[in-house]
Parts: sequence; structure tokens; C-alpha cells
Amino acid sequence: MKIKGEVLLPGDKSISHRSLMFASLCKGTSHITNLSSGQDVETTRSCLTQLGIVSSRVENSVEIAGGDFKDPSSDLDCGNSGTTTRLMMGLLAGKNIKARFIGDPSLSSRPMARITDPLSSMGASFSSNNNCLPIQILDGAKDAISYTLPMGSAQVKSAVLLAGLSLENKTKVNDPFKTRDHTELMLQAIGADLQTDGMNISVSNTNNDLNSFTIEVPSDPSTAAFFAAAATLLEGSNLLLKNLLLNPTRIGFFDVLRSMGGAIDIEKEWSVNGERVGDVRIQSASLKAFELSEKDIPSLVDEIPILAILATQAKGVSKITGAKELRVKECDRIHAICKNLQAMGAQIQELEDGMIIQGEQTLQGASLSCFDDHRIAMSFTIAGLITRRAIQLDDPGCAKISFPEFYKILDELISI
Ligand code: S3P
Repeated sequence: MKIKGEVLLPGDKSISHRSLMFASLCKGTSHITNLSSGQDVETTRSCLTQLGIVSSRVENSVEIAGGDFKDPSSDLDCGNSGTTTRLMMGLLAGKNIKARFIGDPSLSSRPMARITDPLSSMGASFSSNNNCLPIQILDGAKDAISYTLPMGSAQVKSAVLLAGLSLENKTKVNDPFKTRDHTELMLQAIGADLQTDGMNISVSNTNNDLNSFTIEVPSDPSTAAFFAAAATLLEGSNLLLKNLLLNPTRIGFFDVLRSMGGAIDIEKEWSVNGERVGDVRIQSASLKAFELSEKDIPSLVDEIPILAILATQAKGVSKITGAKELRVKECDRIHAICKNLQAMGAQIQELEDGMIIQGEQTLQGASLSCFDDHRIAMSFTIAGLITRRAIQLDDPGCAKISFPEFYKILDELISI
């Protein structure tokens, strides 16, 4: 079995959420193509509709007109989407919109104090279920702050910046973790008064003069990672990933894969709305182990499940530390990875903030849980390509949260 051919994957999830939210702030109508097809991004669009923002969608193309936000007449249901919830809380607190946020059981168990704390320092107030959803905005943000991120989270950084976008004085955020910078790049591109200087970002009120835009969302490197991993592991593979987002804050997975001995070639590179994009060829290769520590995590935070699977096939022992944020993703991903790999017969040691993975192991077919987590479902589907006996996943359909076409595209790329 091998992976062969070329593929244009759906748009990056982070840029898709931001395209919709930022377009809603602009004068005029924005045009977005290759929007992520995942349910999370549609959740953002439907929350915006409840707030009075009009958009229309045909397949993955959206037209969206900026406008005034109104208090929603019912709860904003953010489903499974942490990005929708956290960015929208900042945006709406800045505009003093009295929304109440709810979500599914996974989202409702995720920590939200990381958002309400800085927004409260800005003068906003909230009621919450012990710092989890449901959360109601009682009063909006009034004062600009200077804030240093306590954890490597682009969602937290973006929430504070989006609240700051409605305030007169300069809101400043210091991001020592170098988390993904799409909020900064996109807001600058549409005319916001936002400056960056190394790890410091500052923003002030430009809510009313943002320019509508046209964007073709580059393909998502986090979903591309699954196919890149499959192509690396299956001998004789040769895959071209077209129009892939190559923002340096997002391509840690590809950097690590290259350091492991992965065969990665950037064939063409260009720029779209301030973002680096390229066509990337991946061929099969033998791998060696890697070590990751806290500073490496933000640029590959969503790719650790698939990296752990690659580590089981690499020569040597791989070690991941400084990744405790993984415990509060769509599921506890450290636990989920270790549990499933152990069920497949792998030697893996769970650490509080990571894991130690023995290399060159034969993975066995097993019954596995997806832990209601799209990235766990897709990662272990890839692991199942190298087992002799098939794996069974309890809920493969949860991949639809970020990537409904995952199984179809994988099928199309596999040849015997
Ligand atoms: C995202 C940031 C990351 C990432 C998530 C998307 C974003 O979350 O895991 O999938 O679009 O800002 P954190 O900010 O919590 O690390």
C-alpha cells in the first residue's frame, strides 16, 4: 500500500474562523474561498448569524457582509469549538454584547478562566459555571491592558487583541511562546491599527475602518500532517500537497519530520494575504527519533498525536515534554495517545506534560477510542494503515469537526 498523487486540501481552520470573524467587522462584503469544511468553522458562521451578521455559503465559498453586532436572542452554541468560543468572547466583550456561550460536553469541560481573567482585567464581567461554559457576558471590556500570556495559547492572545480592537487606548500583549500569528497578520492586512515588535503586539480601536477583503484560504497544515505521515510511513509513496499554508508558527510538524529524516521538498513558494504558502512534496523515508520541549510545542500543538505515531516507527527513543496544554484540548490528548498506543502493543510512558515513546515497534490492530476528538480519530486511522490486522475506532465520524472529507481523500490517495 502507498500514498500517491496530489491533493488540494480544504482551508486552514484557524484562518477560516478568523476570516469569518474579521469580515464581520469590515465595511462592505468580503469573499472567502476554500473555507475549512469542518463543523467548527460552520459553528463560527452560525454564531455570527445570531449576532446579526449576514453571510451566504455555497460549498466552501462564503460571501459575508460586515455590520453592527446585536445581542443574540438565544445562547451561542459553540458546539465543540474552542476557537469559536474563545475568540468570540474577546470580540463580543470588546463590543459589550451580552451573549451567553454554551457548548458540547467536551467544550463545556475546557478551561475558560484563561479568557475571562484577562478580559476581567479589562473591566468585563462574566457569570460562569466554575470558569467553564455556560458563560454569560454581563458587562463589556472598558480598559486597555498590557498582558503577558501565561501559557502558549493563540486563542488567549487573540481574545485579548480582539477585545482591544474596540478600546481607545493601546492594548498590549506579550507572547513569549510565539504562538500562531494569523490574528496579527490578518488584522494588519485589513487596516487595523496593530503593531508587532518581536514578541510584543499592540492594538487600538479601528473597529470602524477595516477594509473588506478577498481570500483563498491556504490548505490546512494540521490536516496535511496526517497525509504527510502516511506518505512517509508507506514505502514507495509520493504525495504533492498543493497550496499548503507554510506560516512558520504552524509548520513545526514538517520541521520535526524533516529532522527525523523525512523526505520533504517545497517545490514552489508564494505569499497570500501576508501568509506564506507553497506546494510541498512528501516521499517515504526511514525515520529517527526526536525530542521536543516546551518551546517547540506551539508550532505543532495539534500535530502531537500524529507525531507520537511516527515516533513508534522511528529509530531510537522519542521524548515530548512541556506539552501540558494537550491535557485540555478536545480531550486529554496525552492520555488518549498513550492509552491507544498501549492498546496497539506499543511501549509508551505517560508523563504529566508529555510522553516517552520507544521506536521501531510493530503496532497491532486493536479496538480504539477516539475520545470524541477529531485529531485522535484521524491519527489512529493513519496508525491503522501500518497494522497487519485492522483497527476499530469507536467513532471515526468525529473527524467531521475539522475535516469531513478525511476518509474520502485518504481512500483516493491510497494505491496498492
Ligand atoms: C488555535 C489555537 C490552538 C489550537 C487550536 C486552534 C487558533 O489552541 O490548538 O486548534 O486557531 O487560535 P490554543 O490557543 O489553546 O493553543
